[in-house]
Amino acid sequence: MIITKPKQLMMNSSKKLKIPLSVPTIRGNELKYIKECLEEEWVSSAGKYVDKFEKEIAGFTGSNFAVACVNGTSALHIALLLVGIKPDDEVIVPVLTFIASVNVVRYVGANPIFMDCDEFYNIDSNKTIEFIKNETIFKNGFTYNKKTNKRIYGIIPVHIFGNPVYLDELFEVCKERNLKIIEDAAESLGSTYISGKFKKKHTGTIGDIGCLSFNGNKIITSGGGGMILSQNEEYAKRARYLTTQAKDDGIRYIHNEIGYNFRPTNIQAALGVAQLERLSEYLEIKKKNYEIYKREIDKIPGLRLAPVPTYANCNYWMYCLQIDKDVYKKDKEGLLIDFLKNQVEVRPVWQLNNKQQPYKHCQSYKIEKADELSSKTLNIPCSVSLIREQIDKVLDILKQ
Ligand SMILES: Cc1ncc(COP(=O)(O)O)c(C=O)c1O
Repeated sequence: MIITKPKQLMMNSSKKLKIPLSVPTIRGNELKYIKECLEEEWVSSAGKYVDKFEKEIAGFTGSNFAVACVNGTSALHIALLLVGIKPDDEVIVPVLTFIASVNVVRYVGANPIFMDCDEFYNIDSNKTIEFIKNETIFKNGFTYNKKTNKRIYGIIPVHIFGNPVYLDELFEVCKERNLKIIEDAAESLGSTYISGKFKKKHTGTIGDIGCLSFNGNKIITSGGGGMILSQNEEYAKRARYLTTQAKDDGIRYIHNEIGYNFRPTNIQAALGVAQLERLSEYLEIKKKNYEIYKREIDKIPGLRLAPVPTYANCNYWMYCLQIDKDVYKKDKEGLLIDFLKNQVEVRPVWQLNNKQQPYKHCQSYKIEKADELSSKTLNIPCSVSLIREQIDKVLDILKQ
């Protein structure tokens, strides 16, 4: 396979490489399909590529239904409406996730309850079960929070950085307690379980609904885009209805509900279809680069590359460097500055959501691991287009 040098690398001198964190790789039929949309004048939020993208994502993930959205956030927003989360309900969410997973809870007027994470940065299943068993009661078919007396009607497990959330027992508890599961699989397209109850299943196909994102930094992109996955035809039909302005009569423009303009354009979908053609190749590259990084980083005292779960095949979307500052003699912030000085883009994990201004007042449950991991983790360059020279540059900075 020919690996072309990323533009950034060609534009800079070899001394000062600019290495981005996660950028798209466009090396397939992207232009061809987009040109076709333009030539056929199908540029807006309908067209053959939207249908094709949905069908192909459904086929790839093994989902019965897939409904395309303008981005991952809108997919999650609609998902919460579909399962029937109501204003004043509560929804269990991980404290460590991109804020979009939490904002959508507020979009529907509900409130988040923050859960700690496990060693894979994912919502801690055991602690969540402990919370449900000890801190809630089950009454008239619903789960109520003992502290607030509010109904808890859902949970959003987020497959952080592509690592599938351990769901085996949590899934059962949620079913017993009538808690709707909305999987945020924005980062985990291509990740599957290899053991346990959900063996061979793709993330996003286990809960009541799953949502994907095709933002520019994801493993494949449609520029901006999202997808609602469901096994339930009613959810899929309603998702299509709500995302197209709840149009009941397309000729007379009759709308019996308040809908949303959440469909992607044909151009976005064309880009997505071309990207999806390369996904298997991208998954292999991501894994191979993870292994190179891991072999070298784990040799450096005080550093390690975060492991991935053994119960799953990950898509290795984002690589997490963990720093033991006492051994390495430098902390996350120090290393961040070193990278930036060398024009290498790295990123600390998101500020925890219980510390974000709009959510400081919300309930949190035993947040410990998330604090620890966020204090010592940097995401390091992981684009599919990463070449060995760039990986070596990252390693050199770490070794200095
Ligand atoms: C975990 C998670 N959830 C939701 C989103 C929202 O997706 P989008 O940016 O496509 O709206 C993202 C990423 O962008 C994400 O990483």
